[in-house]
Amino acid sequence: MADTQLFDFKVKSQIQDYEVHFIDSLKESLDSSLVNGDFIIIDEKIKELYSEQLDEVLDGFRFISIEASEKQKSYEGVIPVLNQLMENGFKKNHRLIAVGGGITQDVTAFIASILYRGVTWIFYPTSLLAQGDSCIGSKTSINFREFKNQVGGFYPPKDVFIYPGFISSLPYSEIQSGMGEMLHYFIVSGKEDFDFYKSRYQQAFSDKSVLTEIIGRSLAIKKEYIEKDEFDKHIRQVFNYGHSFGHAIESLTNYQIPHGVAVSFGMDMSNFVSVKMNLIDDEVREEIREVTQYIWGDYSVSGLLPAELMKALSRDKKNVGNQLGLILNGGYGKVFKKLVDPDDTFKAWIEEYFNDQS
Ligand SMILES: NC(=O)c1ccc[n+]([C@@H]2O[C@H](COP(=O)([O-])OP(=O)(O)OC[C@H]3O[C@@H](n4cnc5c(N)ncnc54)[C@H](O)[C@@H]3O)[C@@H](O)[C@H]2O)c1
Ligand SMILES: [Zn+2]
Repeated sequence: MADTQLFDFKVKSQIQDYEVHFIDSLKESLDSSLVNGDFIIIDEKIKELYSEQLDEVLDGFRFISIEASEKQKSYEGVIPVLNQLMENGFKKNHRLIAVGGGITQDVTAFIASILYRGVTWIFYPTSLLAQGDSCIGSKTSINFREFKNQVGGFYPPKDVFIYPGFISSLPYSEIQSGMGEMLHYFIVSGKEDFDFYKSRYQQAFSDKSVLTEIIGRSLAIKKEYIEKDEFDKHIRQVFNYGHSFGHAIESLTNYQIPHGVAVSFGMDMSNFVSVKMNLIDDEVREEIREVTQYIWGDYSVSGLLPAELMKALSRDKKNVGNQLGLILNGGYGKVFKKLVDPDDTFKAWIEEYFNDQS
């Protein structure tokens, strides 16, 4: 097991290597890293909540505040941002500074990757999901019509600054989401990492320093995979664990269930199917379920219709022909991709899963 990374570290990228820094003071970090010409793209909620630390900085720089909505993360949403950048004299040698969660990240990274064929961007992730997962990995997707994350590429920031203080203002649902999203790294990585997570997760919900430890370890695990497969061609694909079912759940619930919570249900469904296929013992599923149940708390999938879920699963981009491209669990550290026929047996498993939930 690699060391927990609570110290600065570098991520190797085929586009450009970048650094991740853990910072104690937001204001000091912004004061020392921003330079003339920088343009800040900030989540409007963060601008309000952190006005004390940010107002002075924002006075000295050009900025745009955006709404963290999936609608903002689209061509239509990106156009007004591009307009403002152009109208305010943003040039190729200037930099974009993103301050926000995954949505602000995707909007900024997408623009940074296309504007003048690429400008430098820097990221201050503010949500748990962005701090413990999306801030590294180079992905830059926006939505197209009702389809999520369908347009984009790979374009890493130059620096990532993680300020754990941001976690204090997150609603509980965002902590659940971030914890659910990070959990999948720990199962994919192996038993030792799962035990690491399992021995800390309850405390992490209320103790920022324990949570920061989990963030550090989550990023360390992800780093290993993305450095080997930045463009998601082979081994990185195991991080879709929980996501085929998770995306289906998100679409069936109109995104009322936060992404990472949907992923924790998705992992449980994947484990359920894996037990049915004799890939893992039920004890493994139960051991993981103890954790996922805590994460999803009051959220429930019991009202969802199995037939609708099958329909949503059939639209997954990992599918090949009629077969579902699922990420299944062969044990800790042995998560793998498998093509599965959506036959009557499979459909019966899905029905059984939902019957068990009610
Ligand atoms: N590029 C990638 O690699 C990648 C990876 C995973 C997810 N994503 C994308 O990220 C998005 C989800 O990320 P997210 O959950 O960070 O979304 P988000 O940016 O919408 O943030 C979630 C909510 O929390 C609020 N928020 C953020 N930080 C806060 C803070 N410190 N205090 C109080 N409120 C705060 C936001 O305003 C928003 O309402 C999705 O669009 C997903 O597709 C991208
Ligand atoms: Zn995810």
